[in-house]
Amino acid sequence: MQLTAKTLNGVVKPGTHREYGHTRIETAPGSRLFAGLPEEFDVWMSHGDQVEVMPEGFKTSARSLSCPNAAMRNEARNLYALQFHPEVAHTQHGDKILHNFLFPVCGCTGDWELASWVDETVEKLKRQVGAEHVVLGLSGGVDSSVVAVLLHKAIGDRLHCIFVDNGLLRANEDKQVETLFHAKLGMDLHVIDAKARFYGALKGVEEPEQKRKIIGREFIEVFVEQARKFKDCKFLGQGTIYPDVIESVSPLKGPSQTIKSHHNVGGLPPDLKFELVEPLRELFKDEVRAVGRLMGMDHELLDRQPFPGPGMGVRILGEVTAERVALIQQADLRVQEEMYKLPNYKSIWQSFAVLLPVKSVGVMGDQRTYENVCALRVVDSIDAMTADWTRVPYDTLARISNRIINEVRGINRVVFDISSKPPATIEWE
Ligand code: XMP
Repeated sequence: MQLTAKTLNGVVKPGTHREYGHTRIETAPGSRLFAGLPEEFDVWMSHGDQVEVMPEGFKTSARSLSCPNAAMRNEARNLYALQFHPEVAHTQHGDKILHNFLFPVCGCTGDWELASWVDETVEKLKRQVGAEHVVLGLSGGVDSSVVAVLLHKAIGDRLHCIFVDNGLLRANEDKQVETLFHAKLGMDLHVIDAKARFYGALKGVEEPEQKRKIIGREFIEVFVEQARKFKDCKFLGQGTIYPDVIESVSPLKGPSQTIKSHHNVGGLPPDLKFELVEPLRELFKDEVRAVGRLMGMDHELLDRQPFPGPGMGVRILGEVTAERVALIQQADLRVQEEMYKLPNYKSIWQSFAVLLPVKSVGVMGDQRTYENVCALRVVDSIDAMTADWTRVPYDTLARISNRIINEVRGINRVVFDISSKPPATIEWE
């Protein structure tokens, strides 16, 4: 049953104070959810609404400075509610709260393992696909690569991978994908050069959502065009993971807004004849990597940082052109090379360059320059739902900045982004 404030007869109102990011809460004694925790701790909030009147039978379990009912409970009915996010890394004791909820409150046993998930999923894929063929959009990123290997395990050469070069990829990515999946793993891979088509469709477009929609639409069109060539294919594989799903749809059909349209969800044409195969739909990124490791996949590939479907399209602010793509690819390459040297590279969620639609004045030798500004974005995160900017060593920042300005002609200034998510997002568009 879906419980809402309405069915419980409480009242939710827009609060006078919004709370984003770190907030300290004070817990009331006696809640099973907070058993074994200190009376006060820091949590991560992201809300503008407040419970003004609690439903009958509920009592407050925690409050913050501006939110009198930051947690509430009805023990008789075994109902617990939180206003903050226990699932994010920035909430202290979040794992203990979830543990208390799952085990003492819900009575779960905790006997689920990823190893059995892989076997079960391969079996499920075999059953779902039967003797049919699957066509898969391979992006070279972790998610679609893991799907490719899972499907290859399940149906072998009845898997056909299509790699669309949309002209918005990282430097050299097309070659790397070909080497790995075709030459090394022996998969049936079709590389489609659609650069010109994407640049044409993006010409003159500056608005981020419009760019995302165009890139998504073009991708689907190119992909469907190619996929239709595989007459025997009944299924379409996709590397959709859980954060893509929850950030693109409002799961309870409630008033929460769509933050960004992720093009791998919900953009398929209604007449599409394919049935979807999305084995990672319920996994977070760290679980996807763990699945890849369990299947013996290359660490270098699995440790790759996530790269958004719209690629450089959302890292070039303003209009996307072939020249600006070349510029950001070169800047990004230097970011990757320098960041990779850090011993904690693997624990960093993403590091990348963003090309800004502004020019600034500089001086090189005795020449005045008037060129592009690029921003460096480096974030720590567990699941991309929240993120904090990484305290990158000054020496690394200096090397990145020097290398970009000296080696990438067309950029004369580098700035560093110090915004957390929320309220900022990881990508700039
Ligand atoms: P944001 O920018 O929403 O990003 O904080 C959260 C994570 O998702 C990635 N991202 C995308 N991934 N298709 C994807 O597959 C997309 O359209 C897309 N947009 C953002 C982003 O890189 C970050 O890791």
